Amino acid sequence: MSERTVALVTGANKGIGYEIAAGLGALGWRVGVGARDEGRRETAVATLRAAGVDAFGVPLDVTDDASVTAAARLLEEQAGGLDVLVNNAGVTGGMSQQPGGADVATVRAAVEVNVIGVVRVTEATLPLLRRSASPRIVNMSSGVGSLARQSASAGEQQTGPLSVAYAPSKSMLNAVTIQYARALADTNILVNAACPGFTATDLNGFRGVRTPQQGAAVAIRLATLPDDGPTGGFFEDAGVVPW
Ligand SMILES: NC(=O)c1ccc[n+]([C@@H]2O[C@H](COP(=O)([O-])OP(=O)(O)OC[C@H]3O[C@@H](n4cnc5c(N)ncnc54)[C@H](OP(=O)(O)O)[C@@H]3O)[C@@H](O)[C@H]2O)c1
Repeated sequence: MSERTVALVTGANKGIGYEIAAGLGALGWRVGVGARDEGRRETAVATLRAAGVDAFGVPLDVTDDASVTAAARLLEEQAGGLDVLVNNAGVTGGMSQQPGGADVATVRAAVEVNVIGVVRVTEATLPLLRRSASPRIVNMSSGVGSLARQSASAGEQQTGPLSVAYAPSKSMLNAVTIQYARALADTNILVNAACPGFTATDLNGFRGVRTPQQGAAVAIRLATLPDDGPTGGFFEDAGVVPW
């Protein structure tokens, strides 16, 4: 394991993921920029490096077994391992998410990236994380995945548009987060979920009200938790998000 902390951020070529990479890089960490498109990945790496970040590109499509296996191998060979995994890559899945008019292909697309992609990347990188002195896993969830908020009465904390794709995919990601935290409870790996808040990115046609930098803050906090920090939790800037 190299002496410097090594992080992998999935979906780091733009939006919140890019700002997570920039924030972790500003701490002096080596940052793997996980991105599926070569041009977008290399542009992001070049911009980060110009800003002084020790960034390197990691070709990564979280829906592709071979791509994820190769990414884990690249981390081992190029960075000597991995300390912090930020599962940030996510998609809405597309339109027609309304119950009563939903397209099952949309549901499948959301789950494939937001849930199965996270499991795939986590499984492939766990052997590397287990060798780290202070490993962390951060899963970029969303408050719209909170069952408490989905079922709140209007005017309470109810959140997000009606959806049987994106919102439930984040609910499942929350459960996946809890399951890994339980399985790894007797190790030094801390596993938590983050909600960035409604952030202006491609994901929502830039309708969000927070900047990507603001959206990145909670993930950076969870990526840099002290060894006695929480595990199996769900956090936003304001504190704990109800499951
Ligand atoms: N924006 C919000 O208000 C908000 C709120 C709550 C949660 N979130 C979550 O925050 C995370 C980041 O979203 P964002 O708002 O920054 O959206 P974004 O700007 O659309 O960025 C999404 C990133 O995920 C990547 N990605 C998508 N599919 C991928 C795949 N199969 N393999 C690898 N990378 C893939 C995208 O790469 P390409 O450029 O190649 O498409 C892009 O880098 C997501 O998990 C999202 O659900 C966002």
